[in-house]
Amino acid sequence: MSALHKVLVADAIALDNLAPLRDDSRFELVAKPGLKGDDLANAMADVDAVLVRSATRITRESLAKATRLKVIGRAGVGVDTIDVAAATERMIAVLTAPGGNTISAAELTMALLLSLARKVPAADRSMRAGEWDKKSFSGIELYGKTLGLVGAGRIGSQVAKRARAFGMNIVVYDPILTRDKARELDAELASLDDVIAGADVLSVHVPLNDATRGLLGTAQFARMRPTALVLNVARGGVVDETALLTALQRKQIAGAALDVYENEPLPADHPFRSAPNVVLTPHLGASTHEAQEKVAIEIAEAVRDALLDGTIAQAVNAAAIAGRR
Ligand code: 3PG
Repeated sequence: MSALHKVLVADAIALDNLAPLRDDSRFELVAKPGLKGDDLANAMADVDAVLVRSATRITRESLAKATRLKVIGRAGVGVDTIDVAAATERMIAVLTAPGGNTISAAELTMALLLSLARKVPAADRSMRAGEWDKKSFSGIELYGKTLGLVGAGRIGSQVAKRARAFGMNIVVYDPILTRDKARELDAELASLDDVIAGADVLSVHVPLNDATRGLLGTAQFARMRPTALVLNVARGGVVDETALLTALQRKQIAGAALDVYENEPLPADHPFRSAPNVVLTPHLGASTHEAQEKVAIEIAEAVRDALLDGTIAQAVNAAAIAGRR
């Protein structure tokens, strides 16, 4: 009988979906969602693995006491809330569930795009206020418009397929997308500048890292069409928030829909909340029944295999850990 592996569930992940760990007597699940600071560091001090979503920040400080920790399991895809370098120094594998929320994120992108194009949230607010105002909510058709995608990986390519079904033309900036894959998506490859300048709708689908931080800023908004709509269902920080607010106020673009923010939760008094032509959601890309079930099972299996057999080939820091051995 192997030793009991203790797994801390530090975020909102349904235990029912963690069956590969919960139903295996070699694991003990400890659910303590919402821990922060010292409480999180103390809770991680005596566990073999910790499971998180984006609400839990794993910092260098929170790892300081985690002498037993071997695995950080992200029930989702983004690792910008995890200090991967600090984990690597401690030989802690950072595993993700990269496929499970792809469809949900792509579908939310389409929901926000349609909401923005047809002013659905504003019309709904007006109806609830007792009005019947058809004039203020005239929108645009997506048919025949150009969708500029920055990034066409898992999520971006699913957005492309759905937008093609709406009759949109797709132009993509993605340095690693092959011509064959672009052809498969019925999309045209272009430079970042051309995608920005030619888009009726611009949607980013890239992770947040040093190369993508501020990818859309003042200079980029200045080159966009005044009728353009901007979507960010990827990561706060990829779109510079101050520059976006200015572009909206100056009518350099026509509107924006955002699911993600530089600081989450978005402060209650943040100017986005009163900005014109903005649709906001609170980081809901992966918040569906289906996505949460898939990512939880995916991460539970990956963490199980890592703890039992040392299988960490899919870890985001696998190569860096191997290099330190
Ligand atoms: C992700 O990175 O997987 C998505 O942004 C979802 O994040 P969440 O699990 O914190 O909702």
